[in-house]
Amino acid sequence: AVSLRALADARGLLFGAAVNHTLFDPNEPDYARTLNRHFNAVVAENAMKWAGLHNNREAFAFGFADAIVDTAVKNGQTVRGHTLVWHDSLPPWVYTIQTREELLRAMQDHVTGVVTHFRGRVRMWDVVNEAVSDAPGHPLRSSPFLNLIGPDFIDEAFRAAHAADPDAKLYYNDYNTDGLNGKSDAVYELVRGMLVRGVPIHGVGFQAHLNTDFDVRGAQVQANLQRFRDLGLDVQMTEVDVQLRPGRPEAGELARQAAVYRDLLRTCLSVKCAGFVTWGVTDFNSWRAGGRPLIFDDVYDPKPAFAALAQEL
Ligand code: XIL
Repeated sequence: AVSLRALADARGLLFGAAVNHTLFDPNEPDYARTLNRHFNAVVAENAMKWAGLHNNREAFAFGFADAIVDTAVKNGQTVRGHTLVWHDSLPPWVYTIQTREELLRAMQDHVTGVVTHFRGRVRMWDVVNEAVSDAPGHPLRSSPFLNLIGPDFIDEAFRAAHAADPDAKLYYNDYNTDGLNGKSDAVYELVRGMLVRGVPIHGVGFQAHLNTDFDVRGAQVQANLQRFRDLGLDVQMTEVDVQLRPGRPEAGELARQAAVYRDLLRTCLSVKCAGFVTWGVTDFNSWRAGGRPLIFDDVYDPKPAFAALAQEL
């Protein structure tokens, strides 16, 4: 079959998948084979999160993340870093910190340590993930960082990342922000303010955790992505998956899933997006496996969504 990687390469598009080092296993040869044949970029699904790299305050643990990065580099794949500052996946020691100064320093040290370690190998980072809440008016989300440091934790995280690797592209990343809506308005205002303040931000990631109900046109994804492009920012779809709805005839759902993937990629390309990343490789190892949301099925066979992407690329 056609190689999505070759098609994406020809377009200069990053086409990626979230990966788990546990699947780089001699007993699972189809995993590495599929990843290398169809994707020119990878993201660590969990290995680069704070708890993954820095569970012990005194020492980073880079082994699993290094394994992913070394494999990717060997295979000629670009690495997206995910993620430096997130309210989730924090080790217990972070919650024990009591003062603004100490947490600010800990956050800066974390960002500096991680970005420095991967400098030259990880080309772009989700510096801050999911900082905007889903509550009415979409204020910033409660987290140790917001609550102790204050809203400028975001600017400070980007400044630390930029200082550690001036060549890395720095992203703000969030979910339910794909279309025009109150939450994407809040992200827009957030990143516009950062640009006004001269904060080094280069792009916005749109996770696109969707289901087959999602209407790319109706949600006005294109107008949304375009307004971020008009700010001079890169945009990427960073965690795409499209769940099937339970209790519906399978053929129709798979066709609908393919249409959502197709519409999303077409829209992404229409605004010259920098990347399109699926959140996993095959349905069986998806974080939402029950919804069979990816483009390869449990036995690594391409689904209708695969063909839809191949056609758009
Ligand atoms: C998810 C992983 O897929 C799971 O394996 C893990 O248990 C929890 O995190 N938004 C994000 C990702 O930015 O980091 C999340 O990944 C999914 C939602």
